[in-house]
Formats: sequence, C-alpha cells, structure tokens
Amino acid sequence: MRVVLFTGKGGVGKTTTAAATAVHAARAGIKTLVLSTDAAHSLGDALARPLGAVPEEVESGLFAQQIDPLARVRGSWSGVRECVLGLLDQLDVDPVEAEELADLPGAEEVLALLELRDSSVAGPWELVVVDCAPTAETLRLLALPEVLGRFVERLLPMERRLARALAGGIAPLLGHRGGTPVPRDHVVEAAQRLQTELAGVRSLLADPGTSIRLVLTPEAVAVAEALRSWTSLSLYGYVVDGVVVNRLFPDAGADDWRSGWVAAQAGRLAAIEESFGAVPVTRAPYAAVEPVGTDALADLGLEMYGYPGEDALSALLGPVEIQPALRVRWSGREFLLELDLPGACREEVDLSRRGEELVVQHGGRRRAIALPSALRRCRVAGATLRDGVLGVTFTPDPDQWRPS
Ligand SMILES: Nc1ncnc2c1ncn2[C@@H]1O[C@H](COP(=O)(O)OP(=O)(O)OP(=O)(O)O)[C@@H](O)[C@H]1O
Ligand SMILES: [Mg+2]
Repeated sequence: MRVVLFTGKGGVGKTTTAAATAVHAARAGIKTLVLSTDAAHSLGDALARPLGAVPEEVESGLFAQQIDPLARVRGSWSGVRECVLGLLDQLDVDPVEAEELADLPGAEEVLALLELRDSSVAGPWELVVVDCAPTAETLRLLALPEVLGRFVERLLPMERRLARALAGGIAPLLGHRGGTPVPRDHVVEAAQRLQTELAGVRSLLADPGTSIRLVLTPEAVAVAEALRSWTSLSLYGYVVDGVVVNRLFPDAGADDWRSGWVAAQAGRLAAIEESFGAVPVTRAPYAAVEPVGTDALADLGLEMYGYPGEDALSALLGPVEIQPALRVRWSGREFLLELDLPGACREEVDLSRRGEELVVQHGGRRRAIALPSALRRCRVAGATLRDGVLGVTFTPDPDQWRPS
C-alpha cells in the first residue's frame, strides 16, 4: 500500500490536487482512499458531496472520508484522557485545571493520525491519499508520534514509581480529591495502549511506502516556504518524493497581462526545478473554473499525470526510490551518521549530544535522534554540513568499547 500525504502553504491547492490525484488513480483501476485531516470540510466541497467519518464510495474504486477527530474522543482516546486525569488527580492537581490539561494541546492532531492509521490499514486500498492541513500544522502533526511517544515513555515509569510509592503507604498523603480514584492498572494499560497506537502511526509514516508531496504555487513566498518545509520534513525523517506546482497559466494566445505572468511563472518553475534537485516536479494548470466534482478533478489529474499508462501510474505508486533521510555507515575506523537537511546552511543548524540522543536543531525545529546502540558507545568526533547533508562522525569510546 502507498500512502501519499499532500501538504503545503494555505490555499495553494492541496485539497484540489490531492483529490485530482485520487480520482485519476481510481479511474486507472487503483483502489484508492482519499481522506482529509483538515477540520475544514473542503475535501467534500472539492468532490461536491458531503463526506462522513467512515470511508464511503464516491465512484467505482474511489473512497473518501473526512476524519472526525472528535468521534475518537468517544472511543479509545477516552482511556488516554482518563489516564492523564488519573495521574493529575494523584498528583493533587485541581480538578478543573486537570480537565483542561487533559485536553492535551495537539490532541486533535493525534486523533487525526490515529484515524488515518486505522483507515489505512482497515480497507483494501492500494493507494491512500491524504489531504493535510496547511504546512505548519502538518509538520507538527508529523512530528507528534515521535514527541508523544517519548512523553508516554516518561509517563509510564512515573506512574510505576507512583504506584510503588502508594503501595508503600503514602497514599493517604497524596489523597484523591473528589471522585473515584482511577484504578492504576487501568491507567498504565491506557498509557501502554496509546504508546502502541503511536508506534503504529509512526511506523505507517516512516514506512518506505509512505511519502509526502509538497504543493506550491509558482510565487516567491510559496517557493521559500516549500523549501523550508522540505528541510524540516527531512529533519523528521520523512521522504518528499514529489513537488506539485499548481496554478500554472497556460501560455496559448497570451495578451500582455498573461504573457507577463507566464514569463514570471516560467522563471519560478525553473528555480523550483533547480532547488528541488532530484525530486520530480508535477505541473498542474490553472483551470478556467474551480475544479469541483470528480469529472473536473479527473481532467486536472489527466493534465498533471498524463494518460494512465504504466509510467503515469508509477509516478503515483512506484517505489519511493529516494534514500532514507537518516543513514549510518561504518568505515572500518569510525561511524558516519548522515541526515539530509536540504537547503540548510551552517549558521541555522545546531547539534548537541544528550546522553543517548543526538539533538539536531534547525530553524526553530528540533529533533532528538535516538542513537543506535553502537553509536551510544562512541564519542562525537566532528560534524560537517555539505550540499544539504549533515554528516556526524562517531569514534568508538575506548572506555566503553571492548572488541569481542
Ligand atoms: N489548478 C487549479 N485551477 C483552478 N482553481 C484551482 C486550482 N487549484 C485550486 N483551485 C481553487 O483554489 C481554491 C483553493 O484550493 P484548495 O482548497 O485546493 O487549496 P488548499 O491548499 O487545500 O487550501 P487550505 O490551505 O485552505 O486547505 C479552491 O477554490 C480551488 O477550487
Ligand atoms: Mg485544503
């Protein structure tokens, strides 16, 4: 199964190009699910029909779904919420404050990801097209499983310590303000379930079959933002395997106004192709009217991908051939860890070692890379940033390394 996420700046045409891709694929015989994680119901608007919280068949081979994160609140999330509430209660936090804290910031995004995972694995899909919210939120969304996974990892031992302390007889001191105490086994279970679910989301997003298409319009601001997103996505280990340039003016019969735009767009397009290097660029023309409904979307899909021969489909479904963004090699004397940070320059990147993690910071974003065990027993010997690749060399620490 291929999962393709469409993201980009607000209003560039993510929903439209994602829907056009899905209709095109479905009409070429690929079992396709298109779903939106954006709370605004624009996918339904593009398909010209209201969508439900479960996948519904729009036309032969094409299913669509509007993710409803709140539906989840009534499902498995309630266990997690209870877990957080239980912990806060045991820590003697005011119940009103606790209620607010338990609605974790970003919880909706986590729920959207859990839904995406469930829908992706549940159906007979060969292709899952995801229409994401604008870039900033999506980046947060994609980083969440990793961040939350670490949060839960810390929460679990904390809960166990607490349980031990309670068993040791300090329960009366901690007390349970108003309401029934949550059974501790239940709390641990809920946290463990969340951890397992998040691991599932993470493995779906990190799967070699999952990739991201960056949508942009040929304008200076949109290009700059798309390049920044590309760096950030790579920082989190996600593969961008396509760029969609939307709203390109057709150049036939141009008057002065239009030929001015066509020339400006051609310049931007050339810059995009150069900046994104090996990443394939798909062009989507500016349609004469808003592409609404499956027929109009199919027309746009045809313009984007051409007639669905083998080549056109491999553009959608082919293996992700771009190498993983994070790689580790052994040279015989030292390890080299490489992380793709396309477009990044030295001044913007900050690197530090924190115990078993390597922390990479770039433009306000931060990723803690859990080091593989061999690297944990090494010292950082140096780092370079060349052609958008961060290289960190690790040499074995003689105190910790005993050759077998
Ligand atoms: N290639 C195109 N030709 C003509 N109209 C287009 C094209 N692409 C998008 N539009 C129109 O532009 C508007 C915005 O597009 P769309 O909703 O797909 O953008 P978006 O990136 O999903 O926006 P948001 O950030 O709000 O989710 C819509 O009215 C859509 O019909
Ligand atoms: Mg949209």
